[in-house]
Parts: sequence; C-alpha cells; structure tokens
Amino acid sequence: MPVSDIVPLSPDFDADPHSFFAKLRAAGPVHLVSDPNTRLSEPYWLVVGYEEARAALTHPGLRKDWHATDMFPEFERTAANANMLESDPPHHTRLRRLVAREFTARRVEAMRPRVEQITDGLLDAMAARPERSADLIRDLAFPLPMTVICELLGVPDLDRESFREWSNDVVAPKPGTLDNTAQRRLSAYLVDLVAAKAESPGDDLLSALIRTRDEDGDSLSPDELIGMAFLLLVAGHETTVNLISNGVRALLAHPDQLAALRADWDGLLGGAVEEMLRYDGPVQNSTYRYTGEDVEIGGVVIPAGQAVLVSLAGAGRDPERFPEPDVFDIRRAPGGHLAFGHGLHFCIGAPLARMEGRIAVRGLLERFPDLALDPAGGPLEWLPGALMHGVSRLPVRW
Ligand code: HEM
Repeated sequence: MPVSDIVPLSPDFDADPHSFFAKLRAAGPVHLVSDPNTRLSEPYWLVVGYEEARAALTHPGLRKDWHATDMFPEFERTAANANMLESDPPHHTRLRRLVAREFTARRVEAMRPRVEQITDGLLDAMAARPERSADLIRDLAFPLPMTVICELLGVPDLDRESFREWSNDVVAPKPGTLDNTAQRRLSAYLVDLVAAKAESPGDDLLSALIRTRDEDGDSLSPDELIGMAFLLLVAGHETTVNLISNGVRALLAHPDQLAALRADWDGLLGGAVEEMLRYDGPVQNSTYRYTGEDVEIGGVVIPAGQAVLVSLAGAGRDPERFPEPDVFDIRRAPGGHLAFGHGLHFCIGAPLARMEGRIAVRGLLERFPDLALDPAGGPLEWLPGALMHGVSRLPVRW
C-alpha cells in the first residue's frame, strides 16, 4: 500500500485517541503522522493494526538506540537516557539479564503485604476526608506506585512532588518544553543516590543492582546504574497511575460491569484489570523506534532511518483481534493485548503493575461502595502527547 498522505494528529487526540486510531486503522495499518508536540523534526510512522503492531515490536530492523542517529538533534546523551529501553542487543540483552536477576516474581510477590498496607493507609486517609470527595490521582493512583517503586529501589527521601513534575515532563512533556531539563535534574539526583548506596548499601533493589554480578563477572557500571534507576523510577509509576485511574474511570462509566465485579471479586478481578489495559491502557503508543534498514510492515516499506511508533491502544481496539473492541467487557479475557508491549522490551514490571492495579481497584471499590465521579471537581484534563493516555486529576466523591 503506498502511503501518500501525512495525517495530522487530530486536535482532540489527547481526550479521544481511540477515534484517531480507528480512523487510521480503517484506512490501513501503517501511516505517516505529523505531530507538533514531539521532539522529532519530521513526521513519524505509526503502526495501528494488531498483527502489524506485534510484527513491528519483534522486527529486528526496528531499533531503539537512537544515540547514533540524528532523530533528536537537541538531545544530549546522558546516563539517564542511555538506559535499557533506549538500547539494542547485545547491550540491551546484557542490561536486561542483570536486572531480571533481581526483578524476580519472588521479589514482587514478597511485596504484596506491603502494597496492601500502603493501599489501606491511602484509603484510610481518603475515608477520613469530611468533604467525602478526593482527587483519586493525588490521593491513591499516584502515591501508591510511587511509594512502592521508591521502597523497592530504596529511594527514601525523594521529594515526590518535584519528582512527579520531572517525571511527568519526561513521559508527557507539555508543548513548548521539549528540552531535557527534567531528565538532567533527575540524573543529578540519581548520581548522588547511587554514590550514597555504593557507600552504604541497604536491602533494596538498587543496592542489589550495585552488588549484582552474573556468572561471567559482568556488572552494571555507575552510568548504567543511573540509567536503570531512572528507567525503573519513571516507568514504575507513571504507567501504573494511569492503569488505576483509567481503570476506575472505565468501571464508573459502566455500572453493569462494576456491579458484576463487586459480586465476584475472586472470579473477575484479574480479567477486569486485563480488560482495563486493553480498553484504555496507560501507554497508548510505544516509545520511539527507528528503522535501521528498510523495513516492511503491513505491506508498507518504511525507509531506513525513520522514526516509528507502534500504537498499543490501536492494537487493543483492532476488531480483527478483539470483536466489538469499543465495548468494555470484564469477562472478555483479552489475552494477548499489547498494553505491556511485546518482544525484547516487554515490560519487566508487568507482574508488579498487575498486582498494584488489582489491589488498588479492589481496595478502593470495597471501601467506597457508592464511589462516583465528582462533577464539582471540574472537567477532566488529559495528559498531553503521543505516549501516555490518562487524566491529570480524577475528582471522585462518595
Ligand atoms: C500498568 C503499568 C505499566 C504499563 C502499562 C507498562 C507498559 C510498558 C510498555 C508498553 C513497555 C514497552 C515499551 C516499548 O517497547 O516501547 C514497558 C517497558 C518497560 N517497563 Fe513497563 N509498564 C507498566 C509498569 C511498569 C512497572 C511497575 C515497572 C517497574 C517497576 C516497569 C518497568 C519497565 C521497564 C524497565 C521497561 C523496559 C524494558 C526493556 O527495555 O527491556 N513498567 N512498559
């Protein structure tokens, strides 16, 4: 299929990305998109069909390490952005192996009681509010994953408000702020933190990563540790915030589904969280890739050296893969959704995110049986940009 048009991102894209993806998908699986709010100077290629998205995410010609390209001319290389998600094999393989050793299902499962305790504490604080209303993001969806990832990594004294601002700026930069000031600030913080951990290690993931050696004696350099800490801190909470808030929004908008879930938590909760991820996942498009050579996806040849995004949300609503894709149905068993990516860079935090999502959603809805959106809280504000999908505040009442 020859591509002749460059499609502009729709003006209401942030509020309603699904219509944009559906329109493109109906016209074909691969398009060139012009988007004024990216750090790229050129339009990027967007892959929207389910099969094509899977093919793109495993295509060896699609690379991640942009440092050798001129994709982001104004961006300098820092330890933070030379991380695992911005590297290719064999470097990626090496970094991933070293962190996977520490990031095991056992370590995640061991956190369950603490995740429940943090959730209960946040819900207690919400329940104590005499006005019987809250911003679900400020009061639950943000502090839960933030506290969990900080405790997991061993980051005790992080100024969470500043961190939230920097981190928001990394994943959903406001138009006009497309430099890497936020990344530099985060890096400076992490340089000090890694040095302090090396000096006096604790019983946490960052200390374990400093100590870790595989059979060949390989270990992470100080810069690689900073990149890893940066990636885990940002990826470990920005996404989970939106799983909780998009998921609760979907349930409140579908009272029949909510009632079914309340009637059978044990039977339906796992599937409900998967459906939340498929229906309105936090990461609507993958991070950037570029073509290291000419790459054919869905019959379209993308020339070498071009930026490519893979629409995970577009894949999740592909009717060829998920019948009636715009219906939110917690019994659908949406196995194979791409909300955590696919292939080499598949989300390493998926088990933790699922655990947090399930505990938060169940805890919240059990504690507040009459939870509802709070229209007095003002209109929803959407996160800007192509990567994340979610709101910045979610006013609720009970
Ligand atoms: C609902 C929550 C989450 C979602 C939807 C999500 C989604 C994703 C996606 C789509 C990718 C692949 C991006 C790409 O290929 O361009 C990814 C990678 C990654 N995620 Fe997550 N994530 C979540 C939670 C977490 C958590 C809790 C952590 C850490 C504790 C985490 C750590 C990572 C890391 C380290 C990578 C890079 C893996 C690699 O490059 O090999 N994520 N995530």
